[in-house]
Amino acid sequence: MTSPAVHVIGHPLVQHKLTLMRRKDRSTSGFRRLLHEISMLMAYEVTRDMPTQLVEIETPLEKMRSPVIDGKKTVFVVIMRAGSGFLDGMLEVVPGARVGHVGLYRDPKTLGAVEYYFKMPQDMSERDAIVLDPMLATGNSAVAAVDRLKETKPKSIRFVSLVAAPEGIANMQRHHPDVPIYTAAIDRELNDHGYIVPGLGDAGDRLFGTK
Ligand code: URA
Repeated sequence: MTSPAVHVIGHPLVQHKLTLMRRKDRSTSGFRRLLHEISMLMAYEVTRDMPTQLVEIETPLEKMRSPVIDGKKTVFVVIMRAGSGFLDGMLEVVPGARVGHVGLYRDPKTLGAVEYYFKMPQDMSERDAIVLDPMLATGNSAVAAVDRLKETKPKSIRFVSLVAAPEGIANMQRHHPDVPIYTAAIDRELNDHGYIVPGLGDAGDRLFGTK
């Protein structure tokens, strides 16, 4: 089977902002603002091939047929809690999108994903799902979230992370070879605690100031 695409978003603005976020002295508010800005920029890449349809409109000069996207057909699926930091920027770009939530925590011993919350909009079979989680580390949460999401039979699924580990990408590709991955960086490896190195630390803690 061929591997699904891994899209590394190398745009200089994204790379620059990611560097600022990685710095350990970045404040909570700075980290949050940068994640918001990056998610808007990444939304452009992730939605690049979104279908459009022609609608008839009237300019001040004449009638024309012009393309629009049906944002309501998109559902952003937030993997809590760090995924929520990705959401607002994406919604700014696709304001009509629906939002689903998956709550998973990482068992500190096994690093396996345990589900505690799952809520999706109705009619998922008509929607394109974009799963949001800033850190694709072991990939266990991503795999578990996509497993559950597939039960709702969305039209398509893509996965967006800010920083990915090679281990997480391999795990996703093994379990979900049909799901393309978008990321701003593929870092070196995971450490013994399941953190991405060099990474940026715990994205949830840095986003919410909980450490
Ligand atoms: N989750 C994080 O927030 N950071 C990592 O490095 C790995 C998982």
